[in-house]
Amino acid sequence: MPVVSTSELLQKANAGGYAVGAFNCNNMETIQAIIAAAEAECAPVIIQASQGAIKYAGLDYIAGLAKIAASKSKIPFALHLDHGTSFEQCIQCILAGFTSVMIDGSKLPLAENINLTNRVLRAAKAVGISVEAELGKIGGTEDDIVVNEREAFFTDPLEAKEFVQSTGVDFLAVAIGTAHGRYKGIPQLNFDLLKNIKALINIPIVLHGSSGVPDIAIREAISLGVSKVNIDTNIREAFAEAAKKVIHNKPEEIDLRKLLGPARDATIDLIREKIRLFGSSGKA
Ligand code: G3H
Ligand code: 13P
Ligand code: ZN
Repeated sequence: MPVVSTSELLQKANAGGYAVGAFNCNNMETIQAIIAAAEAECAPVIIQASQGAIKYAGLDYIAGLAKIAASKSKIPFALHLDHGTSFEQCIQCILAGFTSVMIDGSKLPLAENINLTNRVLRAAKAVGISVEAELGKIGGTEDDIVVNEREAFFTDPLEAKEFVQSTGVDFLAVAIGTAHGRYKGIPQLNFDLLKNIKALINIPIVLHGSSGVPDIAIREAISLGVSKVNIDTNIREAFAEAAKKVIHNKPEEIDLRKLLGPARDATIDLIREKIRLFGSSGKA
């Protein structure tokens, strides 16, 4: 099963009222876990590589592992650049075989974000690759921002409309109250804002920082138009906890396969749960 168009997976999800999980990979084990979970659930998935993953594993290794996964996989999956930092990086990923790229211009003024996104879109469209952009600032929980200040960074629905009209971007990441990393408290999502955004833009919406968001809020967000749900921190937790458990129970263990194998198994279980939560089980 070759890697497939991210846009196609998300258009189907958008029309079908479910979401596709976008799971961050960092090594062979996480890629294998994402594919194994998707096959077990017969679900479409997106494997995505963050800046940290590219620095750690190398773009060529990630693309190479994904290529091998594609040659063996029974389900369709997409390969996506997460929080792309530049036009150049997007092109490198497209050349490496990614099926979509995110260009994260969210820290730029609106007009510059539009310009950068358009530059990436022109190149990507020429070779059939879809593009995600971000409007508003999602941030990390470690950013010491108090709640009412955070709201100033939320996505403005009218700006979202203008952004989509001026770019024709394929899917849009919005800031509605989630943040990357572990939450200190329970995140409060602004569903009215999500509704208002969705009413003005007719493209799949992406939810970042989805680890730690209560299941009920994830379901609500999907019912209001979120079609791609990004999960990284929960994968790190599942993977690390399982490896730590082996070390705790058997401190003398030095066989990497006995440390990483249970971590991979725990990641499969976690991703299967998420797939079911997102309603994408059986949709491949
Ligand atoms: O969106 C960001 C990812 O969750 C983590 O990024 O792998 O670069 O630390 P990183
Ligand atoms: P979490 O680490 O909070 O799951 O966020 C993942 C993400 O948004 C990747 O882009
Ligand atoms: Zn993100």
